Amino acid sequence: MPTTLTVNGASATVDLPGDTPLLWALRDGLNLTGTKYGCGVAACGACTVMVDGTALRSCQTTLADVAGASVMTIEGLGSPAALHAVQAAWIEHQVAQCGYCQSGQIMQAASLLAENPSPTPQDIDDAMDGNLCRCGTYPRIRAAVQDAANRLREV
Ligand code: FES
Ligand code: FES
Repeated sequence: MPTTLTVNGASATVDLPGDTPLLWALRDGLNLTGTKYGCGVAACGACTVMVDGTALRSCQTTLADVAGASVMTIEGLGSPAALHAVQAAWIEHQVAQCGYCQSGQIMQAASLLAENPSPTPQDIDDAMDGNLCRCGTYPRIRAAVQDAANRLREV
């Protein structure tokens, strides 16, 4: 039976089995390929999206789990003309290297700042701890998240 949910602010219907991981529903069902597959076992964070405003690992969340929910992917976070503060900070700090982990990193960071607009360095480390980066961009990620928090407070 098709599942209806909200994706990036618009209603979407996905005609895949309810036990399909959200990751594949997004990528294969809705052609939103910014969300990446890394490990498939909720251990790397590459597949992170926001569900009702909270970061979740889409590889371990089923389509049935998000029926009626509001999902945001990297495609919906901002636009070239109106970047989200996290995206603007990411560019400023030139965080990305290969880029593979970065959509998950950005969604995790955006979720942190939605819940905690004034994170301490420890808060940032704790929130980002489960998002792995094989390129080792961690120092730039920390700096960019702090910068994004500052940008959001100035708005
Ligand atoms: S692919 Fe989901 S956490 Fe690694
Ligand atoms: S930028 Fe390459 S894996 Fe993170």
